[in-house]
Amino acid sequence: MNVLVLHGPNLNLLGEREPHLYGKSTLAELDARLVARGAELGLAVRCYQSNHEGSLIDFLQAERKWAQGVLLNAGALTHTSWALHDAVTAVGLPCVEVHLTDVSRREPWRQFSVLEDVRKAVFQGKGVESYFEGLAFLTTLR
Ligand code: DQA
Repeated sequence: MNVLVLHGPNLNLLGEREPHLYGKSTLAELDARLVARGAELGLAVRCYQSNHEGSLIDFLQAERKWAQGVLLNAGALTHTSWALHDAVTAVGLPCVEVHLTDVSRREPWRQFSVLEDVRKAVFQGKGVESYFEGLAFLTTLR
């Protein structure tokens, strides 16, 4: 199974951005671990980060024929981007939403996700472990 991992705005600053919330791991370290864990699970993993909504959508569209699943941490776009919602619907790939923090217990504006009706599952609040749980969940969809 081929899996796209998409990271949204500001996740390029992982490790330095509010580490008390988002942890000390850098994005490069996380991506390397996702590729390695994916290989253990029999998944080919491609990771991409952008601070731009349109670039995330372009990447998702460009890779849609290669991929069979998507692991998506859309960052703050989670709470606002109907364009990303529509892109997930348009490509028709199973999508698992992940968050480092538990957005259901943070500010009210973070508690809504545009992905609610298009995601297969959400894993959150466990730091980078949320991504690994999401990756394992994707294998159950094979
Ligand atoms: C986040 C939560 C979002 O609300 C926030 O905007 C992020 C990171 C998380 O992984 O906990 O950028 O998606």
